[in-house]
Amino acid sequence: MITVKNSEQIACMRRAGALLYEVLQAVAREVKPGVTTASLDRLAEAMIRDHGAIPSFLGYDGYPASLCTSVDSCVIHGIPSEGQILRGGSILSLDCGLILDGWQADSALTVPVGEIPLAARRLIETTERAFFAGARKALNGNTLGDIGSAVQSVAESAGYGVIRDYTGHGIGRDMHEEPSVYNFGLPGHGQRLCAGMTLAIEPMISQDDWHTDEGNDGWAVLTRDGALSAHYEHTIAITEDGLPEILTLPGHHWEEDTHGADSL
Ligand code: MF3
Ligand code: CO
Repeated sequence: MITVKNSEQIACMRRAGALLYEVLQAVAREVKPGVTTASLDRLAEAMIRDHGAIPSFLGYDGYPASLCTSVDSCVIHGIPSEGQILRGGSILSLDCGLILDGWQADSALTVPVGEIPLAARRLIETTERAFFAGARKALNGNTLGDIGSAVQSVAESAGYGVIRDYTGHGIGRDMHEEPSVYNFGLPGHGQRLCAGMTLAIEPMISQDDWHTDEGNDGWAVLTRDGALSAHYEHTIAITEDGLPEILTLPGHHWEEDTHGADSL
């Protein structure tokens, strides 16, 4: 069942989203060569708890951390560890979720570790652009296929692969609600969208082939061919008659946003 939220409920999700934005920005600022992924996880958990929120990933299906730290060919669900020391030239996807006053927020971004090759920067930028292209199709009366096809066309026209085996999702009181939000599809197809739906849109884009394998810790998802992969996610709310509100990107205004320009 898809749950539609009223404006008070969306206000709660906006507060959760704003806190998650601060957490992810603080974690991203600490990313540099020599840092362990476990230290990033500790920072995320401490900040979440200090603000009276709960880390939603910790204990979810037995997941052992508050943050996912996915390096290079790891697409998602990299478990932070003391033994994993970040090296310059890598890319790191940071994915985090929290619950504030019973309402969920979920967001991810990919950041460089030190200096990275131009090709890796282009992958990160294209993944963000794919998100914004998809998100700007999250309109009252549109369909899920409109979002997926917009994400897919940005990624594939840049020569990249769209990960197929994992999707975005509805979000609200639960982290994972219906519907599944595919990062590919056909315009006009699939579930119709309406005002008050809140979605986590999260393109996962590979530099090459989209096939994935599971790592041997039971969590990590890796590109099968070892290609670099980037992830970018926000929790959004569909509005009555305008562009969606990006709840995990406080202060965002579409008119200032060049990522989502229709020309792209
Ligand atoms: N952003 C991820 C998702 O949408 C986070 C899940 S990690 C888990 O599924 F550990 F919580 F499962
Ligand atoms: Co998510």
